[in-house]
Amino acid sequence: MVRRKSYLCALVSLIFAIVLFSACAPNPRMQLISPNMVVIGEGETFVPPTPTPRPRIADLSPEEIYVGLPDSIADLLPGDPANGQSLTVPYNCISCHQLDLSLVDVAPTWAEVADTAVGRAQNLGSPGPAEYLYISIVNPNAFIVDGYSSDIMPATYVDDLSEQDLADILTYLLTLRSE
Ligand code: HEC
Repeated sequence: MVRRKSYLCALVSLIFAIVLFSACAPNPRMQLISPNMVVIGEGETFVPPTPTPRPRIADLSPEEIYVGLPDSIADLLPGDPANGQSLTVPYNCISCHQLDLSLVDVAPTWAEVADTAVGRAQNLGSPGPAEYLYISIVNPNAFIVDGYSSDIMPATYVDDLSEQDLADILTYLLTLRSE
């Protein structure tokens, strides 16, 4: 009788332990949401919180865009964007830099590069976006974009391009912006 009771007792404890364990186990059907997501309303819709707006070149005045450039370049601005664009072919810029987001592994994309330059300049805490772009062309190792190698972009453009060519390329790059 005593043995039977302890057997029963062990069985009940086992069942209790199983119930307790399964109650604590995560529910595999539960909707997992990242801490970055918030629920709106009652429905099933999850939307990320509004991201910090990306800086846009369109929000800056010409003075804010051109600040920090050498006078010899600033005096030539705005240059001729069409000529700047055509120079990017013989000088091979666009064999490394894509104009869209599809292939961005060799060099940073030029899609909306003018807006990108505003953010990069802000992060560097100093030059304006045009100066950032200008320095990136004439001295590619001055700033290295995260995730890219420092010794890929030729450092010879400063000798190969005239100041007018540089001003034209700069003017062209400043047109590559979000709508
Ligand atoms: C052989 C490949 C290659 C060629 C050719 C090349 N670049 Fe680059 N460029 C890179 C790489 C890689 C980087 C990123 C590393 C760095 O910051 O130097 C870069 C960075 C840049 C940046 C900064 C982009 C950013 O997102 O911050 C600019 C502007 C730029 N290049 C302009 C030019 C221009 C203008 C030309 C042509 C006159 C040119 N590049 C030709 C490879 C190239």
